[in-house]
Amino acid sequence: MIQYFRFYTIITVIFCFLNISSAQTDRAIEDKITTLLAKMTIEEKIGQMTQFSAPVDSFIDLIRAGLVGSILNLTGAERVNAIQKIAVEESRLGIPLINGRDVIHGFRTIFPIPLGETATWSPDFVKEAARIAAREASASGVHWTFAPMVDIARDARWGRISEGAGEDTYMGKIMAAARVKGFQGEKLSDPETIAACVKHFAAYGAAEAGKDYNTVDISERTLREVYLPPFKAGIDAGAATLMCSFNEISGVPSSGNKFLLTDILRSEWAFKGFVVSDWQSVTEMINHGNVADTLEAALLAAEAGVDTEMVSGSYNKFLVQAVKNGQFPEEKINEMVRRILRVKFQLGLFDNPYTDSNREKTELLSDQNRRFAREISAKAIVLLKNENEILPLKKNLKSIALIGPLADNQLDPLGCWFCNGRADELVSVLQGFKNKIVYGTKINYVKGCEIKGEEEPDLQEAVKAAMNADVAVCVVGESFDMSGEAGSRARLGLPGRQLDLIKTVYETGVPVVVVLMNGRPLAIPWIAENIPAILETWHLGTECGNAIADVIFGDVNPGGKLPASFPRAVGQEPLYYNHKNTGRPPVQKTRFITRYYDMPVEPLFPFGYGLSYTTFEFSDLQISKPEIKIGEELKVGVVVKNTGMVKGDEVVQLYIRDLKGSVTRPVKELRGFKRITLEPGESKKIDFTVGKNELSFYDINLNYVVEPGEFHIWIGPNSTEGLHGRFQVVKGQ
Ligand code: GLC
Repeated sequence: MIQYFRFYTIITVIFCFLNISSAQTDRAIEDKITTLLAKMTIEEKIGQMTQFSAPVDSFIDLIRAGLVGSILNLTGAERVNAIQKIAVEESRLGIPLINGRDVIHGFRTIFPIPLGETATWSPDFVKEAARIAAREASASGVHWTFAPMVDIARDARWGRISEGAGEDTYMGKIMAAARVKGFQGEKLSDPETIAACVKHFAAYGAAEAGKDYNTVDISERTLREVYLPPFKAGIDAGAATLMCSFNEISGVPSSGNKFLLTDILRSEWAFKGFVVSDWQSVTEMINHGNVADTLEAALLAAEAGVDTEMVSGSYNKFLVQAVKNGQFPEEKINEMVRRILRVKFQLGLFDNPYTDSNREKTELLSDQNRRFAREISAKAIVLLKNENEILPLKKNLKSIALIGPLADNQLDPLGCWFCNGRADELVSVLQGFKNKIVYGTKINYVKGCEIKGEEEPDLQEAVKAAMNADVAVCVVGESFDMSGEAGSRARLGLPGRQLDLIKTVYETGVPVVVVLMNGRPLAIPWIAENIPAILETWHLGTECGNAIADVIFGDVNPGGKLPASFPRAVGQEPLYYNHKNTGRPPVQKTRFITRYYDMPVEPLFPFGYGLSYTTFEFSDLQISKPEIKIGEELKVGVVVKNTGMVKGDEVVQLYIRDLKGSVTRPVKELRGFKRITLEPGESKKIDFTVGKNELSFYDINLNYVVEPGEFHIWIGPNSTEGLHGRFQVVKGQ
């Protein structure tokens, strides 16, 4: 007993000590900022709020004068150190710059696009990818990444769906926290960490018609229920900064939106980090039409709570004068500059402004980083179809026809925002196949057609290759720039003549495998109907070819699941699983229901869907109590068995439905998931806890509560299948 008491006393003392020391550090930083602010002129203060993009020649004198706080798009330890030296050793107060970069899914070793990383349903892998990206980026002089992008996207036409965690808010929260922790590590002052920046605040993914930068008009309930939680999760995970979005919400652009940037971010969430605008998003408010000129734009953005203005220069041109003539209070400038300096102190930039340039040689694209890239890439692959178990391919086939514009392509599989990734370092599918072949299998590669455009495809060569092969593998999809920023599409099919190419190869009668490389859900009904094997591989990055070969030849059994619904047609968009029931749900066969005249309402492939080379059985659903009081918890669980012949991963997913609320509730909501690995014949019991975190929502008065009533649960392999149970929540006493 004594030793327990002693143990807990020691733990408590250590915990208190750590808390006291972190409070002391915080206090010390605040005191240093106070001292520094007292020395700064208004020009130097607003200089800290000013950010310019490389090349730096055009503003090097402003840096020397201490009138620039941050820069972006400059990499290379020595190059950054040279500019930092001017800021630190030549400006009056020597305040270091913070150097930002879009390190979205890797720095030099490029991982799957974030939508693909999310398809792993493995937050620990996603966190490790961010950790490696931070190690590589910090070695090259980057202090800050404009990531994670945490925008929920329910419309596959929106190109930036590729940059986030897909359509589900619960998943978005988990991936936001994982990425922030990966980038920022345990301590921001650690030279191998970089500051994170949750973006784009807010509801950027709700752009009408999926058109980038377009109008967003949603209720506060939808804003709070769907779009804000991943930002809060990123901030709770310690995100040092946040970026506001280009779009307006119900008439007010985010860059001038006090409700977002002050009422919610500061008053409700007590966010202590700083806010950076998006690229010229402050002066773009003139286009939006809620300000008349750059001065008004600068004043509105500063008043709303944009601390750092990205590249338009509106702050250093107009805010200084505005403060001097009393149009804007200097105390508010001091608060904003304090937030910026706080992050610079937390990053350790005052004590260590320079990057150890030796690190680049060992960090960038190391074998270890490549190995991890290959592993997470294979994990991200989703098996959509595998009729007659055509996959995995045998390694002793006589001949394989490898066809398609993405098969011997080293650029497009890097995906959007590929940062410092290099095409010549990417392993293409053709190379990945060659690396795998050991029994002299002949690989006949034919490009067949371009990714986009109406140029006549080279069908003859493709047919010839297919006719002489045991199997044809068609690698098709989107170019890297058909998703990401300004990558919205009004069509969701395969671009160009790729489908014609596939149909022609299919008509030869040779078994066909389609490998998709894309930055969004695609509408591929003919392929889904006719092609026996389909792999969704996203844009996998540097180790793309090896990862796809690992899966196609069976060295890795695919276990990824869709993080976004795949439509039958673009007309179904926006399309998401956690929709409302409506008054006329499509549950009966009559005309007057929520449906289309010309197509089923169900997705082609649903959220959470993915197959395996083995099979799994869910049994024995257990609910620990038939009834709980508000605030209590219960446990739900199932047994999952690998009923096939090979080891494999399954993602066990928990969904709930609140049957009746003071406002309508979605037909299903993801509230838990676990990716597990089972040997053939092995069973595992998987449990989830269900309590207020899983059952709360914004009620009719926008209070975040659990309401009494009947709840249904499903535990299964995707959002449309699973063992079903129910329980009651009753009022407490
Ligand atoms: C872009 C993007 C944003 C990015 C920023 C800096 O316009 O919207 O996501 O971080 O500019 O490159």
